[in-house]
Amino acid sequence: MAIDLDRLEPGVAVVTVNRPEALNALNGDELKLLIERFGEIRRDESIRVVILTGDGDRAFVAGADIKAMATMSSEEGREFGSLGHAAANAIESLPQPVIAAVNGFALGGGSELALACDLRIAAENAVFAQPEVSLGIPPGWGATQRLPRLIGPGLAAEIILTGRRVKADEALRIGLVNSVVPAGELKPKALETARAIAANSPMAVRAAKQLMRLAFNGNTSRGLEAELEAFGLAFGTADQREGMAAFVEKRPASFS
Ligand code: CAA
Repeated sequence: MAIDLDRLEPGVAVVTVNRPEALNALNGDELKLLIERFGEIRRDESIRVVILTGDGDRAFVAGADIKAMATMSSEEGREFGSLGHAAANAIESLPQPVIAAVNGFALGGGSELALACDLRIAAENAVFAQPEVSLGIPPGWGATQRLPRLIGPGLAAEIILTGRRVKADEALRIGLVNSVVPAGELKPKALETARAIAANSPMAVRAAKQLMRLAFNGNTSRGLEAELEAFGLAFGTADQREGMAAFVEKRPASFS
């Protein structure tokens, strides 16, 4: 388990979620590490652009750790949700731009971390989804606010309420990602984009990022508070217990 921070070349840092045995799903300790890493980057002015990715070739991040969440109380669920919010906010509010290099599954919290990035580049095998409602909880790390903002309310409603998967070609068509490349070209493409940004004035790039956030964030922060409340309240309910037990026991969930 690790969240790696590599200074790849002057100006460009790569943060890699490194828990391939669980397809890079994140529990509380990893979320704290992720937040720490983005804190380090915030303090390091030599870093001009960040690439966020997952270790291996199967997953960016397969979501919040369902095994850890399965028995959480409402209070624990809310606390876990607030850590996820802190991680997504650490990315979104970072002065430097963050590029998500999505190398496979970006599910639930994984998709939500990608949504907090400034831009998203996907490998051809990338798969996005917000499957939370199939687990008995609403999305809890920002998707209810950031997905409608990015792709529009109708499509976001379809994706969040059905929990269906969105493959890379559709993600490109609906504006969920900026570009799609063969898996082997993902890192070079992310690096090429990072270099293009890093060649510009750091002061102007930071100002532009902050200003673009102002276009939306008045409503987003109020919405995020409401999302956190609903996420916490879902824990301990019969639906949440059934939805997550079903995942752990590798069977379909049955909601009454
Ligand atoms: N949490 C915990 N463990 C996970 C995980 C997750 N989100 N995703 C995958 N894993 C684990 C699996 O349990 C498995 O471990 P074991 O071998 O110990 O059982 C290992 O990673 C490999 O996964 P699979 O054997 O399931 O691999 P697969 O190729 O058959 O399926 C998958 C891959 C489709 C991604 C499947 O693992 C899956 O559906 N994972 C869950 C995805 C999900 O629902 N994510 C959203 C979580 S909820 C959330 O994120 C809430 C929020 O808003 C913050």
